[in-house]
Amino acid sequence: MTNSPRPLIAGNWKMNGLGASLAEATALAQALAAEPAAARVALCPPATLIERMSRQLAGSAVEIGGQDCRAEASGAFTGDVSAEMLADAGARLVILGHSERRAGYGETDALVSAKVEAALRAGLEPIVCVGETLAEREAGQAVAVVAAQVAGSLPTAVAGKPFSVAYEPVWCIGSGCIPTIEQIEEVHVAVRAALVARLGEAGKGAAILYGGSVKPANAADIMKVREVGGALVGGASLKAADFLPIVRAV
Ligand code: PGA
Repeated sequence: MTNSPRPLIAGNWKMNGLGASLAEATALAQALAAEPAAARVALCPPATLIERMSRQLAGSAVEIGGQDCRAEASGAFTGDVSAEMLADAGARLVILGHSERRAGYGETDALVSAKVEAALRAGLEPIVCVGETLAEREAGQAVAVVAAQVAGSLPTAVAGKPFSVAYEPVWCIGSGCIPTIEQIEEVHVAVRAALVARLGEAGKGAAILYGGSVKPANAADIMKVREVGGALVGGASLKAADFLPIVRAV
């Protein structure tokens, strides 16, 4: 665990959640009001729920984030959502460069970097995702791939702004398997080095989250790993009963 900043546990609901799911967010906020967490806690619901969740959780300890944004502020981009729109709906953070977007929509490091600039322009705190595929890991490329993604996906404009990096090995997302503690540490230390190489002093302060099959049963062990400053949680963030023990593992 890094000493600073405060660890962040962020839930990524992906394309899950209807109005009825807001009850889970409320249950989470109520539990945190009764017993505050050591970590910062965020939920990133689908764009359709951001405004409602923001209203419902106003004043609570739960921060709201988006899952993606377009780099442009507005324009003829049917179906897309800008960083300004997310902020207007009540989001304070935004996940960018998730592997499901890199793989499914061909998002490059350069595009992710442009989206990070957009997030900063709108006053949002970016959570920038990086991570190797299984083939890249098996080829001994994990550290090189992730370091290159950090260098290419972070504009120098993030220096001095709040942001975090999420290391999410692609082969661990939704798979139920996680890397060994040694593998997590190796990549997190490499991400820190890449951040410092890219941003200098400013690269020392950002939290580096681990993501990929984080569950109540493995969260405490992961949180103890050197340079792990929180978690990005998919499936286990959908239910307050699963997410809370992860939040409390910090
Ligand atoms: P998972 O997803 O926790 O369901 O593996 C993590 C993520 O994709 O952010």
